[in-house]
Amino acid sequence: MTNFKEERSRYGTYSTQWDYVQDRFGEKNLLPFTISDMDFTIPDGTKDVLQQAVSKGFFGYTRWNHPDYKESITTWFSKQFQTQFAEDWCIYSPSVIYSLSVFISLLSKKNEKIVTFTPCYDAFFQCIAQNQRKLISFSLSENQGQFEIDFVALEALLATELPTIFLLCNPHNPTGRVFTQQELRQLISLCNDYQIALISDEIHMDVRRPNQCHVPILKLRDQIKVPVVLLSSPSKTFNLPGLGGSYAVVPDAALRAAFLAILKGRDGVSSIPYLALLATMDCYNNQEKWVINLNQVIDRNFKLIQKKLVTELSLPFQIPEATYLAWINLGQQPFTMEVLQEQLVHSEKVAIMRGDTYGREGKNYLRLNLGAPESKISEGLDRLIRGIKALK
Ligand SMILES: Cc1ncc(COP(=O)(O)O)c(C=O)c1O
Repeated sequence: MTNFKEERSRYGTYSTQWDYVQDRFGEKNLLPFTISDMDFTIPDGTKDVLQQAVSKGFFGYTRWNHPDYKESITTWFSKQFQTQFAEDWCIYSPSVIYSLSVFISLLSKKNEKIVTFTPCYDAFFQCIAQNQRKLISFSLSENQGQFEIDFVALEALLATELPTIFLLCNPHNPTGRVFTQQELRQLISLCNDYQIALISDEIHMDVRRPNQCHVPILKLRDQIKVPVVLLSSPSKTFNLPGLGGSYAVVPDAALRAAFLAILKGRDGVSSIPYLALLATMDCYNNQEKWVINLNQVIDRNFKLIQKKLVTELSLPFQIPEATYLAWINLGQQPFTMEVLQEQLVHSEKVAIMRGDTYGREGKNYLRLNLGAPESKISEGLDRLIRGIKALK
């Protein structure tokens, strides 16, 4: 079993978060709480599977289109979310953002509009812009730390803007919302009424607080009368984005064929990296217990930060429903976020994501990555609190 308590150096692994922190924060050797990967090693069982494959040394072209791969995905959804779909709906893709880009091109035309809840995962901005589509932001409303959808305002926006695609991120990065079945039903109903295709990015589906129930969009498939795709990957849950690989679940046969034609014919990226194939199957077939343990660790980290922010700074902090990302509202503090970043980077030597990375709604926030051993989280929090106190 992975030791979730042990801090092990990730330096020298070409890690974006550790080795290249200077690219984003301008300084080397900062303690990083930045992009969303974790400081934990992958499950031991999966490591063994990969080690055996490496020692055999065969790395020829590999195939993902077989029941071993596709059933590992359908079984995971069935067990974790009581959601069933046909094995044939599953298609390998190099990354979630690659799939998003291709489905944007398939489901909309140049200059058409795509709506998403903001703040949002920053790669959405670029992906939409580089496809020459127009982003229409719909701000989630914050009510005492809880983020909500104002459906009346949303319908008014859809009726005026007439977008082609709704890009849903559920659970939501960076707010950590797990949208309820009721919210999803309302959203689907609007998409049906205004003929808006639905792309649901569910990469954060497995890391949730106890009692939070994730509803995959395809669980509500019977109610959806527009094109719909679900995008996901084991990469966030099991901390293996460096292996590559993700998948799309696509109910419509013609849309699947169109995606495959691009994956294979146009882009030539349909051969799954062998280690990604093995890791996906092992994680989904054998590592459920690991996810339970991970979630307990993340829960403890959230409780720690909530306690420290309240006791040290009298700062209320609402633990999010999902993700290992803390979205901290510093709107009431007597300094700007620019000044705070200077203090954190230059004096405290800590790198924490600025909230405005995720859109203008994030202007007064920090996004702190809690996917790390408690000792590192504690050290990072101490530096954050010291930095804030120094400015008060
Ligand atoms: C919501 C969301 N989607 C997608 C990704 C990236 O997925 P991939 O690396 O498979 O493109 C991330 C990574 O942080 C994410 O938070």
